[in-house]
Amino acid sequence: MTWLFGIFTFWLLMVMVLAQKTFNVLSTQNFNVVPAHNFNQQTGLTTDCLGSYMRLTVDKSLTLGNEVEFDALSNVSHIESLTPSLAAKCGFSIDSDPWGNYKVFASLLNCFSASEDDSEFDIAMRVRVHGVKGEPDVFEVEKTCSYDQWAPREVLCTQNFMEVSVNRLPEEITALRRRPMPRSPKSDYQWTSTVPEAITSTYNIWRMVFFTPNQKAMLLEDALRTGYGITTTRSRLVLRSGYDMPETYSENVNGVPMRIFRVTTYFKKQWSVTMLDTVAACPTGGVSFTDEMITWNFPRVNPLMRSLEISLLGMFMGIDGKQIDSVQMNARGYVLTIVDDQIIMKLPMGGPDGYYKSHAVNNQYHITYNIEPMLELLWSEGGMDATRYKVLFPIKTPFMPSPPHFVDFTDADQRMFDVLLGPFLYDTELVNLTFSTGVLTVAEANARGINIQEQPFQNGSKAFRLKVDFSDSVVVSTQADVTVTVYTLHVTFGFMILPEYMPFSHTLSVDVNLQDIILPTVSGTCDEENFYVLITFGNMGKNFNIMMGVRDLTPDRGAEYDLKENATHMSLAVPFLSTDVVFELMYPSSLRARLDLLLWEPINKWTLSDFSLACNFPMTMTECFSNGTMSALAVKVESVPQLDPRQLTLTDHSCKPKFSNDRFAYFSFEANSCGTTRRFYDGVVMYQNEITLGNELQFHQQNKKVPIIPLDPEYRVTMSCFYTLNDTQTVAFSTKPRENEPLTETGFGEMQVVLRLARDGSYSNFYVKEDYPVVQYLRSPLFFEVALLQSTDPQIEIVLENCWTTMKEDRNSTPRWDLIVDGCVNQADHYETVFHDIIPNSVPNPSHLKRFEIQMFTFVLNDVVFQDQIFVHCDAVLCDSESDGICKRKCPSPFSSDGKKVRRAATNVQSLGTPLSSGKIVLSSTDLVSGSQS
Ligand SMILES: *[C@@H]1O[C@H](CO)[C@@H](O)[C@H](O)[C@H]1NC(C)=O
Ligand SMILES: *[C@@H]1O[C@H](CO)[C@@H](O)[C@H](O)[C@H]1NC(C)=O
Ligand SMILES: *[C@@H]1O[C@H](CO)[C@@H](O)[C@H](O)[C@H]1NC(C)=O
Ligand SMILES: *[C@@H]1O[C@H](CO)[C@@H](O)[C@H](O)[C@H]1NC(C)=O
Ligand SMILES: *[C@@H]1O[C@H](CO)[C@@H](O)[C@H](O)[C@H]1NC(C)=O
Ligand SMILES: *[C@@H]1O[C@H](CO)[C@@H](O)[C@H](O)[C@H]1NC(C)=O
Repeated sequence: MTWLFGIFTFWLLMVMVLAQKTFNVLSTQNFNVVPAHNFNQQTGLTTDCLGSYMRLTVDKSLTLGNEVEFDALSNVSHIESLTPSLAAKCGFSIDSDPWGNYKVFASLLNCFSASEDDSEFDIAMRVRVHGVKGEPDVFEVEKTCSYDQWAPREVLCTQNFMEVSVNRLPEEITALRRRPMPRSPKSDYQWTSTVPEAITSTYNIWRMVFFTPNQKAMLLEDALRTGYGITTTRSRLVLRSGYDMPETYSENVNGVPMRIFRVTTYFKKQWSVTMLDTVAACPTGGVSFTDEMITWNFPRVNPLMRSLEISLLGMFMGIDGKQIDSVQMNARGYVLTIVDDQIIMKLPMGGPDGYYKSHAVNNQYHITYNIEPMLELLWSEGGMDATRYKVLFPIKTPFMPSPPHFVDFTDADQRMFDVLLGPFLYDTELVNLTFSTGVLTVAEANARGINIQEQPFQNGSKAFRLKVDFSDSVVVSTQADVTVTVYTLHVTFGFMILPEYMPFSHTLSVDVNLQDIILPTVSGTCDEENFYVLITFGNMGKNFNIMMGVRDLTPDRGAEYDLKENATHMSLAVPFLSTDVVFELMYPSSLRARLDLLLWEPINKWTLSDFSLACNFPMTMTECFSNGTMSALAVKVESVPQLDPRQLTLTDHSCKPKFSNDRFAYFSFEANSCGTTRRFYDGVVMYQNEITLGNELQFHQQNKKVPIIPLDPEYRVTMSCFYTLNDTQTVAFSTKPRENEPLTETGFGEMQVVLRLARDGSYSNFYVKEDYPVVQYLRSPLFFEVALLQSTDPQIEIVLENCWTTMKEDRNSTPRWDLIVDGCVNQADHYETVFHDIIPNSVPNPSHLKRFEIQMFTFVLNDVVFQDQIFVHCDAVLCDSESDGICKRKCPSPFSSDGKKVRRAATNVQSLGTPLSSGKIVLSSTDLVSGSQS
């Protein structure tokens, strides 16, 4: 009785202590307790009795993602918060998914369940949901589970504890215990004196030996304090341990790592000691993965088996702690087989009993698949001692990289990027998009015309489709080539994985090359003074610089050229003599000049347009004046780039330009100077000179006194003046022919020869145009002069070939009367024509003059004055006074019969094709009666 009382006292004490603790908890926290009678109606809380354990599930609709804690309630209003260590010690396994769905497995043999007979178990728990506000919502759960199928040995492996329970006592001993124990103080004394631990033992447990795997003896109290769960029910001994407890050990069992918890428990009996060997062995590995399949290997022979005489009585599979049948297994594609010494469970990856979850690992998208299969085995050894073995085995695959794929649907012709990025799991949200221009939320992006849409797949995954117009400012465009633009979409998708709010990002960059650049074009025209250039911008606006000739067109120069510009065009007017123009060719009366325009892009130095316009501009290059002065303009032509016009001279190298600069040289000289040569052709007199590089420079070059400048010796402009009477013509030059680029210049000249009537024999005054008709008396002398005006060339001589008079103005009319025939006076004339020699030095060029005198006469017909007026005409030739020929001709004496005519040399005289005629000379009316000439 005393002994029993002792035990009772202990219980009482315990209750008091625990009650005190409970009171403290309750007094400091003010829970909103949902009344216990309501719990079954509480949606979101489910309890299931699943054999040797109860499953409590708490739906996320109840937890709303908040922190959740669980308490265990004992029969005596004892509330104990289930910390991880207490849960492992007392037989609770708590697990949750990321969305706040909780799953609690409570062993029926847990520390707090109440049972009378090991077949009905009352389990009470409390769920505390912490809200944002201070006070948590509390839900109470109470469940009674019946289970009377206890095998002699039951082993339960959950993720956090290993539990083994065995029948503690043979039936008769159990029965014995209900009766008062026969007391034997003596033997008690012996026990206590020989084995001191026995005194402190309770529950009749005298001693425990743990295997680590070496034996380690512990007292019950120490074992409890260390964290092992040790309970005795009416019929069973229950031992429980976490996986990381010191008195457990690992063993590789046929390739599968297992944690082993082995204890021998000694029960003190009155006169003997009963010893129970218990062992739990739980797998901690054995899982392998492929992309499609999860394979879980479990050793067929495990450390729980002592002999090889095993008969497997049952093998079952379950999900989330609940057995499933073969129909369900087939539907899911699960396979449970025994192959050689392994029990193999195969679970297809991605099945609906598990769930996928997104993760960001180093900002990379990963996924895991989670599933919790259960393996249940029932075997017996040697026909006795059946063991029921259950493993609840949550499997979480390793992080599987699942980089999103990117599909580019961009059609360059649509000028729009179109990309699809995915797949992502349902738990991934797109938050924002970061472009080169900045960050936009999805809503902002859509609001400003960027189209970003979520595209769901049937399996719950999704992808994101982004459409951005090329013209959007978030698109970077660069010019890769003169005509090719590269459009680049560089975007970082900012994602968030829920419910953890775990951010990660994915960057993609898409380039599209598009030949969409319209280059600027240049067109131009010329008038007589300017080049007119019109530049039409391409679609890049004014993105170019202009190079004119060899220089950049600066704003200043642009102003000089009357640059005008609007949004699409630019125009210029460039005078053909301006510095930026080059001369290609010289023509007789024009200059061929060219304007080169290069439009270039300053960043990449690309040529956008290369334009040239060449025009002939009217310009007098050579002038031949009647007075014999010749002038010529030499220009620096493009083909002789080294030429310095300042160094040009005429044939006589002392004749330098009158004016020169780096582009022009202007010469003006007399026909009889500067080495001008003179030649007579049929019909023309030709003066010729040559513009070349002067001696001086060549001299320097030969003596190497100056650096040798590669002067182009081919610059040679021959200028000629061809003179015809009163007529200008001619042209000059020809240089040595150059390929493609002959230099030509033309000169115009005029040599004027006149027939004029002097007022008297002094030939100092002449009748002028206004004096005609000149009135003369019959037989009064008429002094005529044929003169080559203006020319200063002394070598030219004018020679009269024929002179005659007519009645009418027309020099070819009849009747006519010859005065001079073939340079000699008409022998048939009664009133001989008289030549007057020119007195040397009386005039500058005597050879330029011929004078003769006649007497005024009139034509009569039948002695009637037919007409009272005459016109005098002459034909003259020019010849070289130094050469032989007509100039040297002598006229026969009036009485000589040697009237042989001298043939004119065709090559050295100039026939005056131009008529020389006087104006009308009228007979004085007083002479009309008497004057006559037959
Ligand atoms: C303890 O449990 C038993 C049976 O489960 C029950 O009859 C008894 O009322 C409970 N005691 C308390 C204080 O809840
Ligand atoms: C869901 O479907 C998409 C498209 O068919 C596929 O790309 C993706 O891999 C699937 N996701 C899962 C988790 O099976
Ligand atoms: C964009 O989203 C990512 C991912 O959610 C986040 O880390 C980042 O801070 C966001 N950027 C801005 C500017 O809001
Ligand atoms: C720009 O100048 C061009 C050429 O002078 C002309 O054709 C065009 O109409 C002008 N455009 C505008 C917008 O003024
Ligand atoms: C010849 O005429 C031209 C043009 O009239 C004049 O420039 C030049 O000086 C004249 N030459 C002489 C030598 O008179
Ligand atoms: C000759 O010169 C005069 C005056 O310069 C001119 O009027 C006339 O037309 C010229 N004759 C010819 C044939 O060129």
